[in-house]
Amino acid sequence: MNNAFNIPERALVLGANSDIARSTTLALASAGTTEFVLASRRPGDLRPLAHRLRAAGADLVETVEFDATELDTHHNFVSATWERHEHIDLTFVAFGELGLHSGAVHTAMTNYVGAVSILEEIRSRLQRQGTGTVAVVSSVAAERPRADNYVYASTKAGLDSYTRGLADVLAPTIHVMVVRPGFVRSKMTAGLDPAPFSVDPDDVAADIVAGLRRRSPIVWSPPIVRGVMSTLRHLPGPVHRKITQHTTSTPKSTITDAFR
Ligand SMILES: NC(=O)c1ccc[n+]([C@@H]2O[C@H](COP(=O)([O-])OP(=O)(O)OC[C@H]3O[C@@H](n4cnc5c(N)ncnc54)[C@H](OP(=O)(O)O)[C@@H]3O)[C@@H](O)[C@H]2O)c1
Repeated sequence: MNNAFNIPERALVLGANSDIARSTTLALASAGTTEFVLASRRPGDLRPLAHRLRAAGADLVETVEFDATELDTHHNFVSATWERHEHIDLTFVAFGELGLHSGAVHTAMTNYVGAVSILEEIRSRLQRQGTGTVAVVSSVAAERPRADNYVYASTKAGLDSYTRGLADVLAPTIHVMVVRPGFVRSKMTAGLDPAPFSVDPDDVAADIVAGLRRRSPIVWSPPIVRGVMSTLRHLPGPVHRKITQHTTSTPKSTITDAFR
C-alpha cells in the first residue's frame, strides 16, 4: 500500500471485464497501482485490458477465471490467490447483472449470494493479513426499489447492507468502501435511455479512486445522486409508486431512471 495516498500497490478485481472495473483499473494504474489480478468468467476477454495496464506501467497483470455463481470454487480461488500473492492491498468487487433476461433467482445468486460467498472467504484472509481495502459496487437502487427493478434493487440492498456490516467487522485497520453509482452508460445499460445525472464509467472510476484516497465509507457517483436519493427514499409509497409507474410506462427517461 502506498500509505501517503492510500493507493493500493496490488489489486484483485472481481468482474474485471465490467466497464466500470476496466475504467477503475486504468485509473488505479495512473494513480500508482502496479500489480493487478484480474478475474472474470472469461479471462481471455481481459487481454486488451491487460495490455493497456502493462502499457500504463503495471509490473504484473494476471488474468484468472472467476464465476460468482460457482460458489464451490470460491474457497480454492481465494486460497490460490493468496498463496500466489501473500498480500492483496485492494479487493474490488465489480461483477453484477441487471437481470432483465436471466431471472430473479439467478440475479440474486450473482449479485448477492455470489458476492457474500467470495467476500466471506476474503474476509478471513484480510483478518489474517491485518491491513487492506475492500471496495464493493452497490447501486443507488439499494436505497429504494421500484416496480421495474425490484429484484436487482433488492440484491443491491442486501449487498450494500452486508458491505456496511463488513466495514464494522474489519474496522479500523481494513477500509471497506461501498460504491453507489447512479445510471452509468455501460454494457449493463446498453439500449436504455440515458437518465438525468447519468455518467460514464470513467467518471465512476475517478470517484472510486478519490474515495480510496480519502478512505471514504461510501462513494456516491455522481455525488448529486446522494441528495436525490435521500429525497426519493422518503417519499410516501403511493407517491413513489405513481412516479415510478409513470417512468415505467414512458419511453423517455425521467429522473427516477437514474436509479439502476
Ligand atoms: N451501469 C449502471 O448504471 C450501474 C449503476 C449502479 C451500479 N452498477 C453496478 O456496477 C457493477 C459493474 O457494472 P457495469 O455497469 O460495469 O456493467 P457491465 O460492464 O455489464 O459489467 C458487469 C460485469 O459483471 C460480470 N458478471 C456478471 N455475472 C457474473 C458472474 N456470475 N461471475 C462473474 N462475473 C459476472 C460480467 O462479466 P462478463 O464480462 O463475463 O459478462 C460483466 O463484466 C455491477 O455490479 C452493477 O450492478 C451499474
